[in-house]
Amino acid sequence: MKKNLVIAIDGPAGAGKSTIAKLVAEKLNFMYVDTGAMYRALTLKAIKKGIPLDDNGRLVEMAREAKIEFRMESGKNLVYLDGEDVSDEIRAEEVSKATHHIASILAIREILWRMQRELRDHFNIVMEGRDIGSKVFPDAQVKVFLEASVRERARRRYMQLKEMGIEGDMKKIEEDIMIRDNNDQARAIAPLVRLPDACAIDNTQIPVDQVVDKIVSLVSGCLS
Ligand code: DC
Repeated sequence: MKKNLVIAIDGPAGAGKSTIAKLVAEKLNFMYVDTGAMYRALTLKAIKKGIPLDDNGRLVEMAREAKIEFRMESGKNLVYLDGEDVSDEIRAEEVSKATHHIASILAIREILWRMQRELRDHFNIVMEGRDIGSKVFPDAQVKVFLEASVRERARRRYMQLKEMGIEGDMKKIEEDIMIRDNNDQARAIAPLVRLPDACAIDNTQIPVDQVVDKIVSLVSGCLS
């Protein structure tokens, strides 16, 4: 049976993966899947249930019971956890800071990998994360490694905060980004890696629409 198409977009935090992956999915009419949102949703669930983030046994049990869904409502990509819309809550700073604990547990990653792989049975997908090309879909038809300099990623975050009426501290934002990069790259299980078969795109200075067009052109080769 012919496999559905997968565009795997990996890269560090704040490199623009979500913006670009959503636009590529829209252009091609593929399903967009934000795997970071799945790790965040489980972290939120653990926090709400008061499960200590070092109690792997209870965390894995909790993950087995969790129902994570992606729904498209009024043009928005929403994340549901156990039937409740948690799209905003999973972006809270407390969740951002704690998610790497959950993401470092192999049994939890395996539960999410299974959910992520199942989606391909039904849809062509654009999936973004850290380990999509390496672990979830090593056979993805298109693999992209999207990056941008620490300074540029910090500048974008600063602007995002500003739009929310928050005055950020550039130095602190840069430090947080470097901590997150280290958490992603130094993790023993499924670390973020730049694969030799991925198309590396540094979008520090390239406008979003050009990056989107580039990825769409990579896909065109697979469709013909
Ligand atoms: O992309 P993001 O910032 O929303 O990701 C949230 C966290 O989940 C971050 O700690 C990295 C981790 N993550 C991961 O380990 N593997 C993925 N495929 C996606 C995210």
